Amino acid sequence: MKVLVIGSGGREHAIVWKLAQSRVVDKIYCTPGNAGIAQIAECVEIENKDFSDLIDFVKYEWIDLTVVGPEDPLAKGIVDAFEKEKRKIIGPTKAAAQIESSKVFAKEFMKRHKIPTAEYKIFTSYTHAEEYIRMKGTPIVIKADGLAAGKGVFVCQNYDEAVNALKLIMKEKIFGAAGEKVVIEECLQGKEVSYLVFTDGKTIIPMVTSKDHKRLLDNDEGPNTGGMGTFSPNPIITPELEREILETIIKPTVKGLKQEGIPYRGILYAGLMIVNGKPYVLEFNCRFGDPETQVILPRLETDLVDIFMAIAEQKLNKVDVKWSNKASLCVVLASEGYPGKYKKGIPIKGLDMIKDLKDVIVFHAGTKFNEEGIIVTNGGRVLGVTALGNDLQEARQKAYSAVGLINFEGMQYRKDIGLNI
Ligand code: AMP
Ligand code: GLY
Repeated sequence: MKVLVIGSGGREHAIVWKLAQSRVVDKIYCTPGNAGIAQIAECVEIENKDFSDLIDFVKYEWIDLTVVGPEDPLAKGIVDAFEKEKRKIIGPTKAAAQIESSKVFAKEFMKRHKIPTAEYKIFTSYTHAEEYIRMKGTPIVIKADGLAAGKGVFVCQNYDEAVNALKLIMKEKIFGAAGEKVVIEECLQGKEVSYLVFTDGKTIIPMVTSKDHKRLLDNDEGPNTGGMGTFSPNPIITPELEREILETIIKPTVKGLKQEGIPYRGILYAGLMIVNGKPYVLEFNCRFGDPETQVILPRLETDLVDIFMAIAEQKLNKVDVKWSNKASLCVVLASEGYPGKYKKGIPIKGLDMIKDLKDVIVFHAGTKFNEEGIIVTNGGRVLGVTALGNDLQEARQKAYSAVGLINFEGMQYRKDIGLNI
């Protein structure tokens, strides 16, 4: 069969890499892809504004299944457009994707279904929002309602920071319409975990647990990023805590969306804070995590196509999903300046030395081939170096040994992924 993957990051490289191992996949396309993906799939540029060119491509190439990496097309209704044309696609509809695309929707949904989350209030008026911050005090968290490329959340330690964030969102409108409403919520202190499941709207199949490192610098310092590294499993999630996450968060979410007439199919990702042993939702994502996928999929033993087809056909209860007992760890190598401005087009050295290393996979994110056919940087997060080991320490040691072989001018990465669990 033929599969199309949409996206260009490390997450999409991991999806394509796993699909390439499937016993039923003959050909993989990716749009737009990157230099790593181009080595195992055919990368194509397709305009995807209203999805009509994409659907034409899928029809013309006889593509059997489409997998969506990022949230943006999901929030814009790619699944609705494909389903109208009876084309198989993995991901939630536009209405169900609101769980990520509108923080106001997500918070009100959680309130309706008694799903544990930080206490909050919603504002459309700057003056009322500022009054509320003064009354509540700090630390406090301010979130733009809509999608803001991962930059719409401000964890504010003092009043000035909070007012500044509010001004940026509501007065300067740096996120445009995404900031017309804001959620102001209680700041939770605890340990963050990522919890992802596959669901067809009825059956829920948990993925192995993981942890992201959102801050740029070691010891969780510096600005928030898309994610600087991950590991799996996350030992914080004991079997007992996992049961609680499923019973109090995941099941009520899938059931609640179905009850509200917007059944959720695809990947559901809950970003959680564990406070005194109890899980609270920080956010939902309607897709695989990046770089969580780079540690989760290398541990998947089942054919990913079997899972995707079962989601599309709502037969997930028929699939027995198996995971390896190995641990995995991913270190993200980023451009100088990320998450702010950065240069592109810098040659990446050392990739050849890693090709044959056992248990090491380099997932490309912001990379491309330049005119001379050399792999150069093309984004903020450039590579994700994943290693598998018998335990986290071994995976960590292998991943960092491989990182030591790669180099590009201005390369920055965290040295403490998997250290302070
Ligand atoms: P989000 O995109 O909503 O997950 O927020 C991005 C990051 O902000 C999270 O990964 C947390 O580190 C932090 N964050 C979000 N909400 C809260 C909260 N209520 N309390 C503390 N930290 C938070
Ligand atoms: N790693 C965080 C995310 O995918 O949103």
